[in-house]
Amino acid sequence: MSERIADLVSRMTAAEKLGQLQIIFRPNHDDAAALVRRGIGSMFWPPSATATNALQREAVENTRLGIPLLIGLDVIHGQRTIAPVPLAQAASFDPAMVEELAALAAREARSGGVNWTFSPMVDVSRDPRWGRVVEGFGEDVLLNAALGAAMVRGYQGDDLAAATSIAATAKHFVAYGQPEGGRDYNTVDVSDHRLRNVHLEPFRAVVAAGAASVMASFNTVAGVPVHADRRLLTGILKDEWGFDGVVVGDADGVANLVPHRVATDLDDAVALAYGAGIDIEMGGTPESIGWGAERLDSARLDDAVRRVLSLKERLGLFETPYVDPDAEITEPSSESRALVRAAAARSAVLLRNDGTLPLGAPRRMLLTGPYATSTDHLGAWTQYFGARSVSIADELAAQHPEIVVTVLPGVGFVEDDADDIGGVIAAVPGHDVVVVCVGEPSSFSGEAASRSDLRLPGRQAELIRAVAAAGVPVVVVMANGRPLVVADWIDQAPAVLEVWHGGTEAPAAIVDLLFGVAEPAGRLPMSFPRAVGQIPIHYDHENTGRPATTRGSLRLTTTDVAVEGPANVAEKFTSKYLDLDLGPQFPFGHGSGYATFAYGEPRLSASVIGVDGSVELTVEVTNTSTRTGDEVVQVFLEDLVASVAPPVRRLVAFARRTLAPGETSTFSFAIGPAQLGFRLTDGTLAVEPGNVVLHVGPTLAATRPVPLRVTPPPLPH
Ligand code: NOJ
Repeated sequence: MSERIADLVSRMTAAEKLGQLQIIFRPNHDDAAALVRRGIGSMFWPPSATATNALQREAVENTRLGIPLLIGLDVIHGQRTIAPVPLAQAASFDPAMVEELAALAAREARSGGVNWTFSPMVDVSRDPRWGRVVEGFGEDVLLNAALGAAMVRGYQGDDLAAATSIAATAKHFVAYGQPEGGRDYNTVDVSDHRLRNVHLEPFRAVVAAGAASVMASFNTVAGVPVHADRRLLTGILKDEWGFDGVVVGDADGVANLVPHRVATDLDDAVALAYGAGIDIEMGGTPESIGWGAERLDSARLDDAVRRVLSLKERLGLFETPYVDPDAEITEPSSESRALVRAAAARSAVLLRNDGTLPLGAPRRMLLTGPYATSTDHLGAWTQYFGARSVSIADELAAQHPEIVVTVLPGVGFVEDDADDIGGVIAAVPGHDVVVVCVGEPSSFSGEAASRSDLRLPGRQAELIRAVAAAGVPVVVVMANGRPLVVADWIDQAPAVLEVWHGGTEAPAAIVDLLFGVAEPAGRLPMSFPRAVGQIPIHYDHENTGRPATTRGSLRLTTTDVAVEGPANVAEKFTSKYLDLDLGPQFPFGHGSGYATFAYGEPRLSASVIGVDGSVELTVEVTNTSTRTGDEVVQVFLEDLVASVAPPVRRLVAFARRTLAPGETSTFSFAIGPAQLGFRLTDGTLAVEPGNVVLHVGPTLAATRPVPLRVTPPPLPH
C-alpha cells in the first residue's frame, strides 16, 4: 500500500469509507454532482469528456479529501467504433486481434473520461438459450482464458495511468454461464470438479493477466448467491489466487440477496456481501450508503477501501483526474473503421460451401431476408442508443455499382402479415445469385434475452427453403448473437456464412467476404445444436460409461470423438436421444475457408516425458490453393485413463496464421503441465502418468493423432 493510501485511510470517517464502496447508476439520479458531494466514490456516467471532468471536479474540489472518481461504463465491444460482439471475436481464434480491439475501445473510452469497464466476460457458456453467450468467448475453457487475457491486456496496456488505458473487469465470477434451463439469472449447481476445471480457469488466467477488478455474478453456486459467497470471493479469488484488485458486485446484486432469500433486508444483504468479499456495491441509492456498516469488521472495511483507492491510484487519477476535452474521440476514424472491418471479416465462419462462395462477377443479384436492409449490426452492447450501421443493401450498392441488385426482404424478424415469400420467389428468375440475409436482431441476445426456441425467428427458414428450391445459386448470410438451430433449412443451403453481429463496419466486411476480398477463416466458438433438446451441448463432454455409436459403425473407442450421424438405436443401452442424430449440427471449432490447406504428420520432440516435463509439438501446414488465406490449427488433448473421468477432447493450444499460395508453415506448440494437467478440487494442478493422445488439425473432425507417454516421477532413494 502506498503512503498516500495509508494516510487517506487513516484520516477517513466511516461514512467516507463507505462512500468509496459504492458505484451508482447516474441515470437513476438527477443530480450527479450532489451524489459526489455526498461522498459516492464511483459512478456510471454517459461518456463525455466535459461531463466527466465536471464530475471529477466536484470530487476533487468539493469533498473533504478530494478523492477522484472511478467512472465506470460497460464498454464491451467498442465505445465509439463498435467491434464485432465478443462471441464473434472468439470465432477469430486470434488473441492479437482481440487485444487490438480492446485497446481501441480503451482509447476511445478514456478520452471521454471513462476509466473502468465491465469487460471481459469470461463465463464459459455451453447453453445457447442463454442470451449472454453473445458477450463472452463461447464454450471452451482455453479460448475464454486466452482471449479474456488478451482483452485485459488491450484495455489496460502496460500502464493503467496512460491516457489510453482503462481498468478491466473480469466477469461474472463465477459459473454464471451455466444457468439452469439457459434462463438468465437462474440457479447454478455445479460440482467442485467442474467449477475448478471449467468455470474458474478463465478467471485464473485473467487475474494472472492483471485484471484490475472482478465482478461477482448474480447466480447462486450450490445454494449460495455469489455476492454472499465468502469461499469463492475471499477464499479462492483473494486468498488462494492473491487477487489484490477490486471485487465489484453486479447491478443490485447485493440488494438481490433479499429475493434470493438469504438476507432478511438490505442491511443484512450489505453486511453479508461486504463480509463475503465484495469491495464495491453496484447500484443502491445514496441513502443505502452505510447500511449494515455497523456489522462490518473494520479490517474488512479498510481492506475494501484500500483496494478501491489503490485502483484509483494505479489509474493515475490522483495526479490526473481530468481528460483533455479537445482530445476526446467522439467518432470512428478511418483507421478505427478499417480495424473493425477487418475484425468483422476475421470473425466470420464459413459453415458450408459448395463453391458458390466467393461470388464471381454476378450481373444480377437478388438480395433478400430481413438483414438485406436492416441496419442492426452493432450487437447487444452499445452505449450510444440509436447508433446503427449501414445495411448490406446500401453497402453492396456502394461497393459494387456494376451489379444490378434487386432488394426484396420478403420477411421480417417476426412473422408479419406483410411477409411476402411468394413475391421473392417470383422475382428469382433472371438473377444469377440469391443472397439471403437472415438472423436475429441484436435485442434477441444479451442480458435478460434468453430464448427457448433457437430457430431463425419469424418465417426466415421458410424463405430460405423456398429460395433454395428456386433453381438459382443461393448463399445464406447469418447475423446473430448466439448459436442457432438450423436443422430446418441447413441441408438445402449450399453456402452459409456466419457473420454474427459484426459492428460498425459489418456490412462492408460481409460484402468483402462475399466477393473474396476478405477470406473467411473463423471457427465456431460454440457448438450449434441440432435441436434445443440437446442443450447443454459442448465438445469437451465426458465419455460416459456407455457412449453411443452411429448406425453401422463398430463400437467406438474413446478416440472416436467426432461422432456425428444417425444414432444406432438398435444398441439400446447407450447415451443418446432416440429421435436425434449424434453430435451437434456443427461442433466447436468448425469452419472452413476459400483457401485449402494440407497437414503433415504432427511430431513431438519426445514421445515420453515425466509429469513435470514439456515437449514441442510441430506440424507443417501447406496452403494448397491459389489464394492467400488463414488457417487455424487446433490441438486437442485426449487423456486415455485418468483418476477423474476426462473430457473426450480438450483444446490445449491453437494458432491462426496467414499463408500465401503454396506456402508451407511450421506451427509449433509447447505441451507441458498446463496443457496435460487438470485441477483437483483443492485447485492444485495434477499431471497424472499414463498415455495421452494429442489430436492436431483444422477442426475436431479432421485431426491427426500423435501419442505421448507421461511417466511417473522417479521413486525417492
Ligand atoms: C448487469 C450485467 O450483468 C453486468 O454485466 C453489467 O456490467 C452491469 N449490469 C452494469 O451494466
